[in-house]
Amino acid sequence: MSDGGRIAPDAHLLVTGGAGFIGSELVRRLLAREDGTRVTVLDLLTYAGNRANLAAVESDPARAARLAFVRGDIADRDAVGPLVAAADAVVNVAAETHVDRSILDPEAFLRTGVIGVHVLLEAVRREAARAEAGERRTNPRFLQVSTDEVYGDIAEGRSVETDPLAPRSPYAAAKASSELLVRAYRITYGLDTVVTRGSNTYGPHQHPEKLIPLFVTNALAGEPLPMYGDGLQVRDWLHVSDHAAGIEFVLRHGQPGETYNVAGGTELPNREVISRLLAAAGRDWSLVRTVPDRPGHDRRYAMDGSKLEALGWSPAVAFELGLPETVAWYRDNPGWVEAAKGGDWASYYDAQYASRLARGTAADESPVEAG
Ligand code: NAD
Ligand code: TYD
Repeated sequence: MSDGGRIAPDAHLLVTGGAGFIGSELVRRLLAREDGTRVTVLDLLTYAGNRANLAAVESDPARAARLAFVRGDIADRDAVGPLVAAADAVVNVAAETHVDRSILDPEAFLRTGVIGVHVLLEAVRREAARAEAGERRTNPRFLQVSTDEVYGDIAEGRSVETDPLAPRSPYAAAKASSELLVRAYRITYGLDTVVTRGSNTYGPHQHPEKLIPLFVTNALAGEPLPMYGDGLQVRDWLHVSDHAAGIEFVLRHGQPGETYNVAGGTELPNREVISRLLAAAGRDWSLVRTVPDRPGHDRRYAMDGSKLEALGWSPAVAFELGLPETVAWYRDNPGWVEAAKGGDWASYYDAQYASRLARGTAADESPVEAG
């Protein structure tokens, strides 16, 4: 198998959600290849999308020449049809992605995760039929970016790809729904599909609504850190460069119809993550507040990454290095943080945290017993 695997060296890839955190990392990575790979980004530029995330490629003439940006909705069939027709493969990174927002207002999650994915799959189905009829060069591959949250709360052991889907938040239910549609289109219409399930991702350019960038930016500003419940919930951390690399690897080398865990291999309780980021930010535990918990809060996510490892990929960035580098990036990019905390940020923050922080208490640094 050549390095490009199932994707030709001069392929034209459609990356949806390419102005977001993981999508923009994937675009930077794909365009760093000097093999003629071209990328079209389709992104709605919701509150989470930021064209500045693509500045590094858009300001470099050699890379910018291989990148096209379209602002649009994956649920808009008129926007999607011609873009899929021009693509050799579609990587669907677009989604509404924050669990707390899905609890406040789930509808956008379903629109993008169900209708949006359906519209993309219909367009891929048409192009697969054209390929079959000899009317286009390639049978388009469809990669759906999914998450470990579809497995639900994992008390013991690690999730493997054949485990049942058991989502517990509106976000996770929307992601599981996307996967079920992909599965149905694979079985019914024989499309060339692959799915990746990534674990909790961190790194530069992540919207500050998520744990690590929220706590880092608040700590740097000397503001309180709202820790949900006892802070003993466990997540498996994956650096964004590893997540993008895992997606690209599955795009090129994944077997049709298969699903792959992209596991970080670094399971930590939130308290430990908070201690480490405070140390890297030069702040202490006095900023941490214990606040009322997220409803339905999953206690632990943990995935087994051996299926993808057997195919030839495993993560490379150690959390011990990736976290301080991430803290330094947020410190060095105050303009990016200010823009991300513009828009609807103040009203979101108020809805999510005002009453929680008012009811919060100073957090004891030593962990209490897990409940
Ligand atoms: P993000 O919120 O930073 O970016 C999402 C992007 O999608 C934004 O640019 C947004 O404008 C765009 N978008 C949203 N709705 C759209 C629509 N209807 N049409 C077109 N574009 C739209 O998200 P992220 O953290 O980069 O996550 C990317 C993907 O990875 C998502 O599918 C998410 O479920 C998955 N994932 C994320 C994590 C994580 O920890 N961040 C972990 C596992 C999987
Ligand atoms: P988050 O970054 O929202 O990712 P996910 O819910 O998708 O895992 O949250 C990571 C963990 O941090 C999760 O256990 C919830 C917790 N958390 C807090 O304690 N306080 C916060 O303000 C946020 C955003 C998250």
